Amino acid sequence: TDLNKIRNFSIVAHIDHGKSTLADRLIQETGTVKERDMQAQLLDSMDIERERGITIKANTVRIDYAADDGETYVLNLIDTPGHVDFAYEVSRSMRAVEGSLLVVDSSQGVEAQTLANVYHAIEADHEIVPVLNKIDLPAADCDRVAEQIEDVIGIDASGAIQVSAKTGQGIHETLEAIVKELPAPTGTLDAPLKAMLVDSWYDSYLGVIVLVRIMDGVLKKGMKVKFMSNNTLHHVDRIGVFRPEMQMIDSLGPGEIGFLTASIKQVRDTRVGDTITNERNGTPEALDGFKPAQPVVFCGLFPVDSAEFEDLRDAIDKLALNDASFSFEMETSAALGFGFRCGFLGLLHLEVIRDRIEREYNIELITTAPSVVYHIHMRDGTMRELHNPADMPDLTHVDHLEEPRIKATILVPDEYLGDVLKLCQDRRGIQEDLTYAGSRAMVVYDLPLNEVVFDFYDRLKSVTKGYASFDYQMIGYREDNLVKMSVLVNDEPVDALSMMVHRDRAEMRGRAMVEKLKDLIPRHMFKIPIQAAIGGKVIARETLSAMRKDVTAKCYGGDASRKRKLLDKQKAGKKKMRQFGKVDIPQEAFISALKMD
Ligand code: GTP
Repeated sequence: TDLNKIRNFSIVAHIDHGKSTLADRLIQETGTVKERDMQAQLLDSMDIERERGITIKANTVRIDYAADDGETYVLNLIDTPGHVDFAYEVSRSMRAVEGSLLVVDSSQGVEAQTLANVYHAIEADHEIVPVLNKIDLPAADCDRVAEQIEDVIGIDASGAIQVSAKTGQGIHETLEAIVKELPAPTGTLDAPLKAMLVDSWYDSYLGVIVLVRIMDGVLKKGMKVKFMSNNTLHHVDRIGVFRPEMQMIDSLGPGEIGFLTASIKQVRDTRVGDTITNERNGTPEALDGFKPAQPVVFCGLFPVDSAEFEDLRDAIDKLALNDASFSFEMETSAALGFGFRCGFLGLLHLEVIRDRIEREYNIELITTAPSVVYHIHMRDGTMRELHNPADMPDLTHVDHLEEPRIKATILVPDEYLGDVLKLCQDRRGIQEDLTYAGSRAMVVYDLPLNEVVFDFYDRLKSVTKGYASFDYQMIGYREDNLVKMSVLVNDEPVDALSMMVHRDRAEMRGRAMVEKLKDLIPRHMFKIPIQAAIGGKVIARETLSAMRKDVTAKCYGGDASRKRKLLDKQKAGKKKMRQFGKVDIPQEAFISALKMD
């Protein structure tokens, strides 16, 4: 295709501002899909994504658009993941296109996530077309939102297109703006192949599908290519584009976006941001900025029913095939038995994987406290990464510890600002910035990631009644006074509950933990001490008193069937219990005990 007739773009938006609906409209308007085939939300393919209203896997679509100037253009839309955990993927897909539509709900305004993603677009030198969506809503206020875009993001919004993805108003104007305002891609046809690996996923019929953007040269069916990050060679069996259903073609030239398959077995063998070139006489220089995904949050996943361990292994293997950023290794815990220590890009990523295991594979899980990766600087000058508080080495060998910190951006209506500041302060945050945009405040905090991984989102949502939006990026490691807090139930350490905490907050956290456990652990026939300790020193203690009488005692003389029911119920309850020494701890206690209020 003639480079001048190509436009590549992505859509930047906050969750729910209408990205998918707009994409569907653009596809529909250009007749790429016949109306009757049009399903709601074509681009979000997985159920979980739909349910959670987030887009996880990047998708793409190629649209032919007959513009008002009489020419037909090829528009390639890359759908980017909408969440912070996938920031690296977002930044890669942004590099694969030349422009973005910045979609803002005109009844809501700019949100934190819009900001984070638009910065990726600006960094990638995008031409940005602001689109004010949902103008059909009575609460729409285009002038205010356009002003806000200028104030907060700093781009000209005077020409913002007013759109209703619902009614179709403004869709034609949007297509024209894509053609007129976004630049055409550049690239050299007779150069060695240089293609960016934008995304990849597993398809049960075709194996791994690799989404690519051709920078220079031509990708042809049947050729041998090299993935430069790991020097692997692959034979290209198929090349195609999404319209949005797959259409096979013979080649892709400079500026084009499409996919290849090459009998690749695992998504793990493909790395987002990698450069693909010819097997021989390839491009001398790989695209810059490549880095393999680094998990930042770790937790243990154990089956509630230990007989399901093999099923869990199977589920994790399958999920990992399709998710290169998810890491795992086997873990044994004295208390929880066999399970896996898993690494994730962030909390949302963790939740998505956990939900999929529970729902798609029907395995009930115990999730241990999420932990960030600490850097342990040993006295001998070496540094180790700590993925699991249980592996904390003997303190006599440790010089100091460092923890990851994030820069958090929170947008919140004025009236909740006080509560948000308090929350951040309570989580050891350092305020960096506070500005106003209309009736909303934007606060920037430097926070320890470990204070965010527990329940920061939940707390933020509840103190602001859902009105705050939040986004973050990693800023690096900093030394602090961190210690490992262990929990002992009936004098037995419960490793699944041990956690790293700041020394100043240890007593408070320890106290909260033992109090909660006291309520969560059912009484037994004997007295149970519950303790939190740092090293050998107990910092908080509660005692669960012994059960006074048999639970069935009150049924004495009553009818036998009621008594049996009670016992059956107890038995069923037992299944969800875990034994620690002589004590049964319900599964639910693990999760609840780790939440802070
Ligand atoms: P994620 O995929 O979850 O990131 O969200 P999204 O940004 O893709 O939003 P989506 O397209 O799913 O739209 C969110 C909600 O807004 C849906 O209920 C849409 O029907 C609705 N919506 C989208 N565009 C419009 C519009 O122009 N007007 C009105 N009234 N509703 C709209």
